[in-house]
Amino acid sequence: MQPEHGTGLELPLPDTDSARHSSRVAEYIRSCIDTAGGSISFAEFMQHALYAPGLGYYTAGTKKFGASGDFVTAPEISPLFGNVLARQCAAVLEQLPGGNVLEPGAGSGALAVSLLNKLDQLNALPDQYMILEVSADLQQRQEQRLREEVPHLADRVTWLSELPRDFAGVIVANEVADALPFERVVKRQKGLQQFRVGVENDNFVWQFADAPELLQQAFSRIETHLDEPLADEYATEISPAVSNWIGDLSASLKAGLIFLFDYGVTRREYYAPDRHQGWLRCHFRHRVHNDPLILPGIQDLTAWVDFSAVAEAAQAAGLEVAGYVTQAHFLLHGGLDEELTEFTSLPQAEQLELSRQVKLLTLPGEMGESFKCIGLARGDIDLPGAFRISDRTHML
Ligand SMILES: C[S@@+](CC[C@H](N)C(=O)[O-])C[C@H]1O[C@@H](n2cnc3c(N)ncnc32)[C@H](O)[C@@H]1O
Repeated sequence: MQPEHGTGLELPLPDTDSARHSSRVAEYIRSCIDTAGGSISFAEFMQHALYAPGLGYYTAGTKKFGASGDFVTAPEISPLFGNVLARQCAAVLEQLPGGNVLEPGAGSGALAVSLLNKLDQLNALPDQYMILEVSADLQQRQEQRLREEVPHLADRVTWLSELPRDFAGVIVANEVADALPFERVVKRQKGLQQFRVGVENDNFVWQFADAPELLQQAFSRIETHLDEPLADEYATEISPAVSNWIGDLSASLKAGLIFLFDYGVTRREYYAPDRHQGWLRCHFRHRVHNDPLILPGIQDLTAWVDFSAVAEAAQAAGLEVAGYVTQAHFLLHGGLDEELTEFTSLPQAEQLELSRQVKLLTLPGEMGESFKCIGLARGDIDLPGAFRISDRTHML
């Protein structure tokens, strides 16, 4: 997820329709808080703000992706991302005759379009491309986009309402883990406190309460992996939802490989002393800021991913970590050069555009370093090329 303008700029005012929509979302969340007795956890707040049926950021019909939305993702920036991923998927699918592709959280459908196109070119099309999307609005947009852009392949695509059983093949998920509601906690002398959201004068405000046992245990486990305990007033995120989701994906996967892409780091980096404000980020009209309590329903809420927690959840569920690489290494070792063999014969304008896309996807200051891909395998799968070089699994 990349903003086009970056951090530190003043937030633009929402237009009238968006402001009106946000007021409705705020009213809905206030009623949930009221019903809950005065406060809800941050994870519950995030669940409502992003996914309340027909109202949330992902479930109402607003434009989120691309220049006129709030952010762009790798498959939105360039089909090169999906093309390279397709090469890696093909390498797995060829080992699993009859294997299919499953994409949870398909957003605008951009990745599905490029994956299907490239798998077709590679003669590696699966019988079924399954999408599991929690947003009915996004599912509709995905269906329309696929019908328009890959009409000859659209009949292979099916939308699921839950994860399939005994799935064999490849699961791909780009920027889904960061969109799952997470908890925020702060370490205080009196014990671990949970960030909760209450209401004062119709505005959302932070409140604090003793963290539930589950979060206390998770926090203690994290501290045992660090060189020294975290300091008092250290505030951070913990995502039980990501671990549960990995467990669900694992339960669904009979054989094959999961490719998960997201911005994230290892546990040591995640819980480094200088990260005492955590990793939460809010996206609104290509600006990044850190106040999740404003603009409910019209801004995206995310946090970077703790990939050590992903690896641990995967191993606990019986999956093997097949590789952990930066997005840049994934693309560079996964066949990006083969995607660019005709580069020099292209018109200059196309060369410039492709260069721009490659830079955004691979440069360390753009998405190249901060985004990672973790591969999680079940069964005897030969590693696809993208994980064979520059693997950082040992750092998790
Ligand atoms: C940040 S967007 C990423 C979209 C797309 N993968 C991309 O790269 O452009 C997150 C997506 O995950 C979906 N989502 C959130 N929670 C989900 C879940 N539990 N299962 C499946 N999809 C989910 C959202 O509706 C949205 O489509």
